[in-house]
Amino acid sequence: MSHGNAETLTVPRAPSSMLVTGGAGFIGSSFIRTRLADPACTSRIVNLDLLTYAGNLENLAGHVEEPERAGRYSFVRGDIRDQALVERLLEQHKVDALVHFAAESHVDRSIHGPRDFIETNVLGTFAILEAVRARKAAGHDVHLHHVSTDEVFGSLGDTGFFVETTAYDPRSPYSASKAASDHLVRAYAHTYGLSTTLSNCSNNYGPFQFPEKLIPLMIANCLEGKPLPVYGDGQNVRDWLYVDDHAEAVWLVLTRGAPGTSWNVGGRNEKKNLDLLHELIEVVARHANKDAAALRALITFVKDRPGHDRRYAIDCGKIERLLGWTPRHDFGAGIEATVRWTFANRGWIDRVRSGAYREWLDTNYGKR
Ligand SMILES: NC(=O)c1ccc[n+]([C@@H]2O[C@H](COP(=O)([O-])OP(=O)(O)OC[C@H]3O[C@@H](n4cnc5c(N)ncnc54)[C@H](O)[C@@H]3O)[C@@H](O)[C@H]2O)c1
Repeated sequence: MSHGNAETLTVPRAPSSMLVTGGAGFIGSSFIRTRLADPACTSRIVNLDLLTYAGNLENLAGHVEEPERAGRYSFVRGDIRDQALVERLLEQHKVDALVHFAAESHVDRSIHGPRDFIETNVLGTFAILEAVRARKAAGHDVHLHHVSTDEVFGSLGDTGFFVETTAYDPRSPYSASKAASDHLVRAYAHTYGLSTTLSNCSNNYGPFQFPEKLIPLMIANCLEGKPLPVYGDGQNVRDWLYVDDHAEAVWLVLTRGAPGTSWNVGGRNEKKNLDLLHELIEVVARHANKDAAALRALITFVKDRPGHDRRYAIDCGKIERLLGWTPRHDFGAGIEATVRWTFANRGWIDRVRSGAYREWLDTNYGKR
C-alpha cells in the first residue's frame, strides 16, 4: 500500500471482497446500493445484518438480485457481537475490507434503554476488532472502516465547528457508546497495528430512513394529520447531509484514506429544528396538495429531550481538500428527493410502522 501524504494513499485501496455490517439499515443500504451501481467498484459484498427493528431487506430490493445471481452479493442474518461468525465470514469470503455501519442509532431510544447501545455499539465493535485482529494474526490483513457520528464531539455554542482533532465530549448514551467504539478502533490500530479509517458524520436524511428520526417522522405525521412534535424551543441546531453523499464519502475514505486517519463529513448545512420543519412543511404541502398553514398548525412543542445538545456543526474541509469530496445534493434538492420518494413509497412506511415487515421476517427468518 503506498501513501500519498500522511493522510491519503496514492494508490487507492481496491477491495476485492467487502464485509458490510448493518447493510440493511438506512445508511448501510445506501452504501450497498450505490456501490453495486458504480461501475468503478467491482468488490464482492457480504451484508451482515441482524435485521433489528431498523434493518429492512426491502431497502435493497431491486438492487441486489442481479449481483446476487452473479455471485457478487450475499446476505447473512447475524449479530456483529458473534465474533466467531464475523471471523468465519472474513475467512470464507476472503474479505479484505470491512465497512462497519451496524449500530443502535437513535438517541431517544438510548435515553430510554441504554443497554442495547452499549452491547451493540461497544461490544459489537469490540467483537469486530477481535475478529480482524485474529485474521491479521493468521496472516490476512483486513482494512476496517468505522462509521461514526459528529455527536461524539459534544455540543457547541453559537459559533465554532468540530474538526477531526476536537476532543471527544459525548453527552448521551448513544454518543458515549459511539465514542467508546471510536476509541477502541484507534486503540486497536495503535496497539495491534490494524489498518483502520474512521469517519464522523453529521445528521443524515433521505429515502429508507426509519420514521422515528426527525425528517421521516415529520413527513409521515404531516401525511397522517398527526401532531408534529418539536423538542423544547425548536432552536437546537443540526447539520444535515443527504444519505447518498455520506455513502460516497465513506467509499472515498475507505479507498483513499491512509491507515489511522479520521475524516469529518458534513453538509455545510446548519438548520434550527424549527426552521427545518417550516421548510419541510412547504415541500410536503406542495407535493400533497395540502394547505401549509394547516400543517404548521400541527406543530406541537413537547418537553425537551434530557441533555439535549444545543448545536452540532462540522468542518468537513479536510475531506473536501484532500479527497475532493463534495455533497452532490444541497438541502433543497435532497428534501425534494426525500419527499418525492416518500410519496412514491407510502407502502414502505405503512409496513414499517404497522409491523407487517416484522411478520414477514419472522416467517422467513424465524423469530428473534
Ligand atoms: N443516521 C445518521 O444520521 C447518522 C449520522 C452519522 C453516523 N451514523 C452512524 O452510521 C451508522 C448507520 O446508521 P443508520 O442511521 O443507517 O442506522 P440504522 O439504525 O438505520 O441501521 C442500523 C443497522 O444495523 C443493524 N444492526 C443493529 N444491531 C446489529 C447487530 N448487533 N448485528 C448486526 N446488525 C445490527 C440493524 O438491523 C440495521 O440494519 C451507525 O453506526 C450510526 O452511528 C448515523
